[in-house]
Amino acid sequence: MKLKPLKIRNLEAQYPVIQAGMGVRIGNATLAAATVKSGGFGTIASVGFGRIETSIDKYVGEVCDYLAQEIREARRLCDNQKPLGVNIMVALSTYKEFAEVCVKEKVDFIISGAGLPLPLPEYVGDADIALIPVISGGRALEVVVRCWLRKYNRKPDAIIIEGPKCGGHLGFAMEQIDDPESCSLDVLLAECKEVLSRYDIDVPILAAGEVATRDDVERFIDMGFDGVQVGTYFITAEEAGIDARSKEVFINATNDDVVIIKSPVGLPCRVLKTPLVKRVLSGGQESFRCPYHCLRTCNPKKVPFCIAKALLATWSGDVENGLYMCGCNIDSVKEIYPLQQFFDTLKD
Ligand SMILES: Cc1cc2nc3c(=O)[nH]c(=O)nc-3n(C[C@H](O)[C@H](O)[C@H](O)COP(=O)(O)O)c2cc1C
Repeated sequence: MKLKPLKIRNLEAQYPVIQAGMGVRIGNATLAAATVKSGGFGTIASVGFGRIETSIDKYVGEVCDYLAQEIREARRLCDNQKPLGVNIMVALSTYKEFAEVCVKEKVDFIISGAGLPLPLPEYVGDADIALIPVISGGRALEVVVRCWLRKYNRKPDAIIIEGPKCGGHLGFAMEQIDDPESCSLDVLLAECKEVLSRYDIDVPILAAGEVATRDDVERFIDMGFDGVQVGTYFITAEEAGIDARSKEVFINATNDDVVIIKSPVGLPCRVLKTPLVKRVLSGGQESFRCPYHCLRTCNPKKVPFCIAKALLATWSGDVENGLYMCGCNIDSVKEIYPLQQFFDTLKD
């Protein structure tokens, strides 16, 4: 199969691949820029920037400045090529401010999930930015589409369907995740296509979850998708922003090490069973202070650990205290490699 370019709004990439925004600092300027240069959509993850221990009055300004710098750095690294975008989780307490930074810094697209991105068009206004909601099925898509059309006369420019086998946070109930066939990507695709056709919307639909090879890309395109979003497989790219000790944790893990926990975000979360997760699963409580409240949906008094602190530990290579989010197919992750190597396999 010859892979077609991916066109979203007025943007085009040579290959039908979006690099997943992966926090904390995995999907940084370096990975996003490398993706753009290799022929995909490069995405900066906006979560987990700044100095975590600063007080709340400084926190918002600091994380916004950091995001702006990261966008500028990515632009510099890819010589201002497009498409470069940002992933903003709806659950972030700085959701609106981050959208405003994206407008100011003129990013090409915003991907937004971990909740329904209902107010996003309001925050972006008339800016020429493609808006790409992350969706877990037809019902969620219909809520977004109806709200955006009614309130803002705006359609999504593409949608990403995150299936039950994705890495990180999942928009499904535990019972559904245990029965992945009931919400497999072909079922979700049919639901979403039905909703889009009812609203007369014809935009690209991307699949997320378990993509590691060209065969996987082709399988989803055969299924009727226009492209894929890749997360887990890119974690061990040389350009991904985490410490090599943490990359080794992903490389040495097998599919049997993957478990699902309830995350402080309030959603099920697929992770590796590393020391922190073992402590939490056996009822442990990690000590932390939270002067910043980075997630609207997190109650620091009730959660067993601070997810920002745990993901920063992953970033810095602290294996004892890190949280290692990943998809079902961690067996596919075998080496540290230059990102270009993956994109080379997509050439004809
Ligand atoms: C380490 C890691 C971090 C992630 N961080 C984010 C994030 O910050 N925002 C988000 O919307 N999704 C995040 N995700 C989900 C990805 O965007 C993506 O949909 C998912 O990884 C796709 O499945 P795959 O990992 O099997 O490729 C993360 C996933 C992983 C594995």
